[in-house]
Amino acid sequence: MNILGINAYHANARQVGAQLSFDTRFLGLGPNLRGLHLEVEMAGRREELHADSVVGAHGASPVARTAGWPPIDIRGSAAFFSGVCLAEAGHEVICSDIDSERIAQLQASRMPIFEPHLDRILAAARNSGRISFTADAGEAIRGGEAIFICVGTPPKESGDADLSAIDHVARQIATEARTPKLVIEKSTVPARTGIELRRALTAYTRNGNLNFRVASNPEFLREGTAVEDFFHPDRIVVGVDEESSAADLREIYRPILEHRFHCPVHEGKCPPGHEGKFLVTTINSAELIKHASNSFLALKISYANVIADLCEKIGADVEEVTYAMGLDPRIGAQFLRAGLGFGGFCFPKDIQAFIHLAASVGVDFDILKAAERVNKQRIDRYHEKISKALWVIKGKRLAMLGLAFKANTDDIRFAPALEVLKRLLSEGAQVHASDPEAIAKTKSMFPQALYHEDPYEALRDADAALVCTEWECFRTLDWERAGKLMARKLVIDGRNLYRPQHMRELGFEYYSFGRD
Ligand code: UDX
Repeated sequence: MNILGINAYHANARQVGAQLSFDTRFLGLGPNLRGLHLEVEMAGRREELHADSVVGAHGASPVARTAGWPPIDIRGSAAFFSGVCLAEAGHEVICSDIDSERIAQLQASRMPIFEPHLDRILAAARNSGRISFTADAGEAIRGGEAIFICVGTPPKESGDADLSAIDHVARQIATEARTPKLVIEKSTVPARTGIELRRALTAYTRNGNLNFRVASNPEFLREGTAVEDFFHPDRIVVGVDEESSAADLREIYRPILEHRFHCPVHEGKCPPGHEGKFLVTTINSAELIKHASNSFLALKISYANVIADLCEKIGADVEEVTYAMGLDPRIGAQFLRAGLGFGGFCFPKDIQAFIHLAASVGVDFDILKAAERVNKQRIDRYHEKISKALWVIKGKRLAMLGLAFKANTDDIRFAPALEVLKRLLSEGAQVHASDPEAIAKTKSMFPQALYHEDPYEALRDADAALVCTEWECFRTLDWERAGKLMARKLVIDGRNLYRPQHMRELGFEYYSFGRD
């Protein structure tokens, strides 16, 4: 890796930093780590607990530091990805979290989540001393001139985003800072949060001479491809109200913009033609861009799902329809996959927050409400398919292939598969589930189900196979072999992974979405 080149650039750079946070929850009676979130469910009441974390980037490299460069610092979950990737890009990064157990885990180089490539680059960054972890947020805050806030912004009951973690971090920054800071929102926040953040920083500080600049730098990383997305972004959006803030952010991202890194995904052979745009906007626009993008993608998925329903009624094939639609560059091929719908910690909460934001300023965003409704109905539609195929669910042995909300992650937050699992268990089915990464997290929530690392073991003696996550290993499953193990050759595919004709040729009774 061209560390010296990166150092040289940093030797001239202003010192900047970022603050990110892990959003931590508890579920059930004991601690149940679900990614970086903890939920507490007691006496039927569910509460979300949030823990701040800080990922701090210090200067550029050991070389730059010995040259006397003060550190930078950073703070989240996608933020954790960014922090590790910034270290890989040549920065020096400190991560801090008020969950000292989590910090201890990271200090021991244990990955809290599964994300392709991340373990490798985290180990490399730790070995080279470019990343470290601390429970002392003050230390990280004081160390840098710029701080990225990436705390969780979960939906409140009203659908509005809960910004209490941002407020908490603002107070921490304002009280711990001894020098001027560039404070950058990385969390997904409703538009106009930047204005409130600036106000909070000014209100909470005891030093009226301290200047806090505020900027917005929304995160577009997808789970499962976060590392690739970080190093090959379509766009890096920075919302600023001062030119110097844009200049600082450009410096942070310069290694990416100038392709001055050793790509951990493509091992130096990155596909050509991927030039990410560095976009400078107002803070309000940057905040809106993130919500507008995620909500549009969610809308696109729901649109494809309604087309699938229509296809079923009319006798058309949704794959044929969406494929042809996607060839039109004005529409684009991505996010038109029909099936069980969207889950995860971003789309469901972001769409709700956007609906709420629009309503709060008197703008009618009913199309988003419809997209949300369609998505919730996907589980009903799938359950109907299962009930229709099986007649009676109680007592049936069912193989569930996939638990995570999407492939290549162990994240089960708002995973459609879990909704399906919950209903089947409540109706007395015996569920044998398999997932390459998400078993551990699901097991503690649903101990009644049986879990198998090997999907063929889940399929043994099953009355039906239910495909709930689009993992490649399920797409390429040997159904001839599976068919010999199953009690009944029935597949109900929630992700349209297989060709109906092929499955029928193999002797399966096969149901999917929007296809005969
Ligand atoms: C999303 C955004 O894509 C990313 O830019 C943002 O930073 C965070 O939120 P992520 O939550 O990782 O990323 O998942 P994504 O790949 O967008 O998929 C979301 C859900 O939609 C998954 O449950 C997936 O299975 C589902 N999906 C996706 C479909 O049902 N059909 C599709 O065509 C695409």
